[in-house]
Amino acid sequence: MAINSEEFKRRRQALMARMGDGIAVIPTSPEAIRNRDSHYPYRFDSYFYYLTGFTEPEALLVVIAGQQPKTILFCRDKDIEREIWDGFRFGPDAAKTEFALDEAYSISQIDTLLPQLLANQPTLFYSLGADAIWDAKVTQWLNTVKMQARTGVSAPDTMIDIRQYVDAMRLIKSPFEIDLMRRSANIAAQAHNRAMQKAAPGKMEYEIEAEFLHEFYRHGAQAPAYTSIVAGGANACTLHYNANNCVLNDGDLLLIDAGCELHGYASDITRAFPVNGKFSGPQKTLYEIVLAAQLAAIEAAKPGNHWNAPHEAALDVLAQGFIDEKLCHGSKEAVIETASYRQFYMHRTGHWLGLDVHDAGEYKSKAGDWAILEAGNALTVEPGCYVRPAENVPEHFWNIGIRIEDDVLITSQGNEVLTQAAIKSVADIETYMQGT
Ligand code: GLY
Ligand code: MN
Ligand code: MN
Repeated sequence: MAINSEEFKRRRQALMARMGDGIAVIPTSPEAIRNRDSHYPYRFDSYFYYLTGFTEPEALLVVIAGQQPKTILFCRDKDIEREIWDGFRFGPDAAKTEFALDEAYSISQIDTLLPQLLANQPTLFYSLGADAIWDAKVTQWLNTVKMQARTGVSAPDTMIDIRQYVDAMRLIKSPFEIDLMRRSANIAAQAHNRAMQKAAPGKMEYEIEAEFLHEFYRHGAQAPAYTSIVAGGANACTLHYNANNCVLNDGDLLLIDAGCELHGYASDITRAFPVNGKFSGPQKTLYEIVLAAQLAAIEAAKPGNHWNAPHEAALDVLAQGFIDEKLCHGSKEAVIETASYRQFYMHRTGHWLGLDVHDAGEYKSKAGDWAILEAGNALTVEPGCYVRPAENVPEHFWNIGIRIEDDVLITSQGNEVLTQAAIKSVADIETYMQGT
């Protein structure tokens, strides 16, 4: 992807405006050893990336707000010898230009320069507690500044968690981000459609997982956004099932929760469909209830509504459906009030979506009020129904697990379902699966 340095510069300027005065220190993630000398695939820190677009490890951003605003990147040196082994690295000089920063230095200079930068700043904005190694370094730099007190130098006397400032910014997606999220969503939608084509009795769950990886990578996604759930039959009733190692049985549903990450942006889709291409009666009954709940929730995802409105809309439909099918008993109000629906629907209806699959951003104000949805918010809408065998449960529903999850962008007029290309209705699924 071409670096859109102006977009990232705008974000840093917006952060400065929120800070008012002081210095922000934002490190990226460390590399992580998988075993012996093999690493996990590297993933940058979302806050650092949001403000830089810089994807190399061993880097840190400094943002100074106030009278003399300045942005400084610390990164790995250019090193031709290392690049023969590990690949390209920008080095400070090229990074400064390419990423539109005011200054850039070698990460090896950090212990010398950070105390100088912290000196006489009123406030330090930092994510204390996020990483013990960086916490120790920041403490060491602050102590170095404090030791200069007799020369008239002062250390910041206030520390504010930088994340709350960036979280508020990340909640409203820019057109640049929306474009990436649309593309990420579309790749994942095509992967779900491909899975419907490939699924068949006798195949293994991991064979279908492989179809997702195929579709993600061939469209340029860098990684799955989270570990894919490919759950046939009763496995779908384990919410975080990801062993993905069972055979797909004729007559079972297959629930797949899988999304990709494109230039940092996650998609997050769940579909449930019959392995053999035809819903049984009980499967169809429950599927239609969950789908109606999801459509009602999507309808409630619009500007001015509060965060919980989609969840409440989904619950309303699910509770009535559960009563109609003798899964729950009593009035709809009582089922919701006593939460007896939780035997079959035990999670919430969505979360913010963006650089993190469960994205940054508050759901409630400090006063305890739900966040109000506004244009630019991105969230998932994902009601479900999971029926484990139990004496009080009609047997024809046992071991059916269904979740239907789409990614929704709030717009000024209502919303846009970013994942609309993923086939969803009973008729469309059956036609698609039987026609291919
Ligand atoms: N795939 C994670 C979630 O649905 O929340
Ligand atoms: Mn989700
Ligand atoms: Mn999901």
